[in-house]
Amino acid sequence: MDGNGRWARGRALPRTEGHREGALRVRGIAEACIDIGISTLTVFAFSTENWDRPHDEVDVLMALIPERLAAERATIFNNDVRIRVLGEIESLPLADRVAVRTIVRQTVKHQALTLNIAFNYGGRSEILRAVRNLMRDGIAPEDVSEDLFASYLYTSDIPDPDLVIRTAGEQRLSNFLIWQAAYAEFYSTPTLWPDFTRDEFDKALATYRQRERKFGRVADQPRVVSDLISG
Ligand code: IPE
Ligand code: MG
Repeated sequence: MDGNGRWARGRALPRTEGHREGALRVRGIAEACIDIGISTLTVFAFSTENWDRPHDEVDVLMALIPERLAAERATIFNNDVRIRVLGEIESLPLADRVAVRTIVRQTVKHQALTLNIAFNYGGRSEILRAVRNLMRDGIAPEDVSEDLFASYLYTSDIPDPDLVIRTAGEQRLSNFLIWQAAYAEFYSTPTLWPDFTRDEFDKALATYRQRERKFGRVADQPRVVSDLISG
């Protein structure tokens, strides 16, 4: 969800206002997913690299997740949304950690949409964590398959992403789902995240539907994109 800072600067506001505005946009995109029949949405909220930002900005970013989850609690329950966190939430203050864990637990059976919040998340540290846990479990090298490895990632029970959307004109993955996005289609838009509306989302999906996904095969045997996206 990139471009919050630039959005704020363009309005002569503090960067933290951009983050607040950006956090509000998640709701509309989540609603659009339910509407369209997209089962899983992952938002990159805070990366392991974001700790290097000024303290006050880090504090606001940390506070936003429990804040939004509390504010949207009724909507989350009424719309059958499952909340999950990818990343280490140990760094949150105790009360916030408990609040996040509670909503994760309470929504575990919800099915309309799985909303993954990547928080204090980094793809490389996720992979290292998986390797460490594999070794702790005493798994023999010859037993390490791609499926087994994937089951050690935060995303163990969710499908790989079909589409990665990058806002604010950047054209890199920035340590986001680097294992899982191996075959994801990549879409970059100059639109800043706080300006990313349902229309912008529809544009991204329209572009995605035109992509031919080959998964390493030859061009005349593609898996059809419209089979992969329901609706
Ligand atoms: C949001 O946008 C990213 C995070 C949630 C940490 P940025 O804060 O990176 O916005 P820009 O890149 O300065 O515009
Ligand atoms: Mg940025």
